Amino acid sequence: MHIDASARPGSYSRQMSQAFVDRFVSLLPDTTVIRTDLNAAPPPFVDENFLANAFLPEAQQDSKALAASNQYTRDFLSADVVVVGMPMYNWGVPAIVKAWIDQIVRSGLTFSMSANGIEGLAQPDKEVFSLVSRNGGFLPGEPFANANFQDGHFAGIMGFLGVKQTRLEALQDIFNPATLEQNLATALGNARKLAEETAARHKKGSRAGSDLWNRAA
Ligand SMILES: Cc1cc2nc3c(=O)[nH]c(=O)nc-3n(C[C@H](O)[C@H](O)[C@H](O)COP(=O)(O)O)c2cc1C
Repeated sequence: MHIDASARPGSYSRQMSQAFVDRFVSLLPDTTVIRTDLNAAPPPFVDENFLANAFLPEAQQDSKALAASNQYTRDFLSADVVVVGMPMYNWGVPAIVKAWIDQIVRSGLTFSMSANGIEGLAQPDKEVFSLVSRNGGFLPGEPFANANFQDGHFAGIMGFLGVKQTRLEALQDIFNPATLEQNLATALGNARKLAEETAARHKKGSRAGSDLWNRAA
């Protein structure tokens, strides 16, 4: 599943996600890519209609109220690899990424609550890649690490949904013309390398496909 969130065509995070996907598909040409450009078609916000239906048993749900959510959730659950290209906007994930998260965190589909506690329902071997572009130094130990409400939030939500592997590649310092070209080349190279490592793990027969949506439905 290939997700983009930047409001800029040809943006850095779009280049990073595309570099990953291109390399992955060149190595595993049978790959089916689910394309989700959140900027081109922003997800709806959670509203009264969503809430009135999302927690009902499936037979009682108004499927129209949950159509977008069901589609995003189905795509997310069916994907073995999820690649998200996104900028940092105002210290966090872009609002459209938050809106997408709100659509896929679904009781009974992507997580369950019982006497035993909360359990993520995404297949545990799903791999999620967060390919991020931003300016300031937001990585651990860097000056703005305390203002990084992006990486922990995104990886935390994925963990909540049961994903065991969320990897980050961050292009930073994008407003420094002296280093931008080199940093971008490094980020694109790292994205390709991640794709190569991931493709090696996903060679035919090496992993079971997901039946989680079918099971949940
Ligand atoms: C609305 C907006 C908010 C931004 N907020 C931040 C921020 O909080 N921290 C930061 O380092 N960069 C911030 N930036 C800069 C972007 O993260 C940076 O330009 C990034 O490269 C955009 O990604 P893209 O090239 O994929 O569009 C912001 C940019 C925009 C347009």
